[in-house]
Amino acid sequence: MELEFNLKAYFKTSADPAPAMEAVAALFEEANRTLLTKGAPEGQGALVTEWQLGEDRIELTLDSGRYVRVHDAVFRLKKALAEKLGKDFKIGIRGIEVESFVIQVPSERELKELKVPYIRSMQNVEGGIVLELEVGEADMKNRVPDRILTLLEEKIEAAKYGAKAEHWNLLWQREPMEHPFTEDPTQAMMKEGWLKRGSSRGQWIHGPQSTKVFRTFEKIVYEELLQPLGYREMIFPKMVTWDVWMKSGHAKGVYPEIYYVCPPQTRDPEYWEEVADYYKVTHEVPTKLIKEKIGEPIGGMCYAQCPPFWGFVAGETLPNEEIPIRVFDRSGTSHRYESGGIHGIERVDEFHRVEILWLGTKEQVVKAAEELHERYMHIFNEILDIEWRKAKVTPWFMAQEGLLGLAEGNVVGTTDYEACLPYRGEDGEWLEFQNVSINGDKYPKGFNVKLQSGEELWSGCSGVGLERWAAVFLAQKGLDPENWPEEFRKRLGELPKGIRFL
Ligand code: SER
Ligand code: ZN
Repeated sequence: MELEFNLKAYFKTSADPAPAMEAVAALFEEANRTLLTKGAPEGQGALVTEWQLGEDRIELTLDSGRYVRVHDAVFRLKKALAEKLGKDFKIGIRGIEVESFVIQVPSERELKELKVPYIRSMQNVEGGIVLELEVGEADMKNRVPDRILTLLEEKIEAAKYGAKAEHWNLLWQREPMEHPFTEDPTQAMMKEGWLKRGSSRGQWIHGPQSTKVFRTFEKIVYEELLQPLGYREMIFPKMVTWDVWMKSGHAKGVYPEIYYVCPPQTRDPEYWEEVADYYKVTHEVPTKLIKEKIGEPIGGMCYAQCPPFWGFVAGETLPNEEIPIRVFDRSGTSHRYESGGIHGIERVDEFHRVEILWLGTKEQVVKAAEELHERYMHIFNEILDIEWRKAKVTPWFMAQEGLLGLAEGNVVGTTDYEACLPYRGEDGEWLEFQNVSINGDKYPKGFNVKLQSGEELWSGCSGVGLERWAAVFLAQKGLDPENWPEEFRKRLGELPKGIRFL
């Protein structure tokens, strides 16, 4: 099956077009050879395949492939017809009425029905999908059919992506090490009274001991990496509004994983009085009533950490001398609604991360990533002394935007750092504990940031997940500082005493 558009529509005319019959015939014939082929490879333009005149209309059927699509073609024809009929016959074109708009898209897989406006029907057929749209002239002008086709092609790609295994390429691996400690570190920490579950799902209250370990990780990152490489600290917002996620691309798919934020409809105490009174009398918080009294979600809690940075540079032009810009943020938590079940600190809904971000020319961005990789290598080999590996991966959002991370010579993409967890056994799944991404021009484009020289601006980011570092370090080394590497203990100092209970 080939990609094909088919449009049946008519032009409304201000008078009976019969006198213009021959002119219309000539115009369509000519357009099939010229007007409707402009911008398309040889033989791949749009075609008027049928037409006829009514008393107050010119009906036609248009077919096309990917290039000059029927909804572009119909506007080209409208303009040409309006000129010709207006000048020679004093007949006006009043508008376009769509009778049917069908797209057939090749696909090896069946897709489930899309739930979006403008789709009248969708059918899986042999070799592809047939979509019937419900669009009018204004929708065609606004390129609605293009967006629907893009959406469908993304879903087809996603189905293919999900079926393929090659999104992971090993780049480097440390030689295997002995791991005498084989307990689940979260269980061990709970036993030792280092932490307790928080009241929310996937949330922990860290006691002084694990907090000190986290702070030591931060200190190592700061002293061994951020400071020597010239990264400056910033504070990024931790509540993220839709407009930010629209520009960062997250609005395309973040919905199952975010914690939503809704403001009160008003801060008038009287408006909320019944909620407070209800609680006072029943000792139950009336969540249904609250739901009625809050506004629509304005966004969500921090998810990827770097998107809200971009508001700082959005719409600006950076002087040549100002780049590369290197910054980091460690000002708050990130939140993800993780898949169900009770997990330890390796998978949490609320977590702590140092987010490192850099921007500059392509060369500068690639070099900054290499410098980070070198420093990380030093930290994980010489200071934490853990068994780890790194792999180039293609996150879905990049595959989706055609930024195929694993393609030869392509530097855009993510490198995941992974470590073994001895308690999971020899063949246990390794844990991703941080990443380094080169994001190409995705963010500068999305937030409209330019460079004085006119060169393309690129960016990268790297997330240091403290819970993940702890999960890996403690799984491999255990909880007894006696068994921790000297270089780490030097930086940690004393592990503080915990809080005891009777
Ligand atoms: N922002 C990146 C992410 O969310 C790196 O932390 O994965
Ligand atoms: Zn990021």
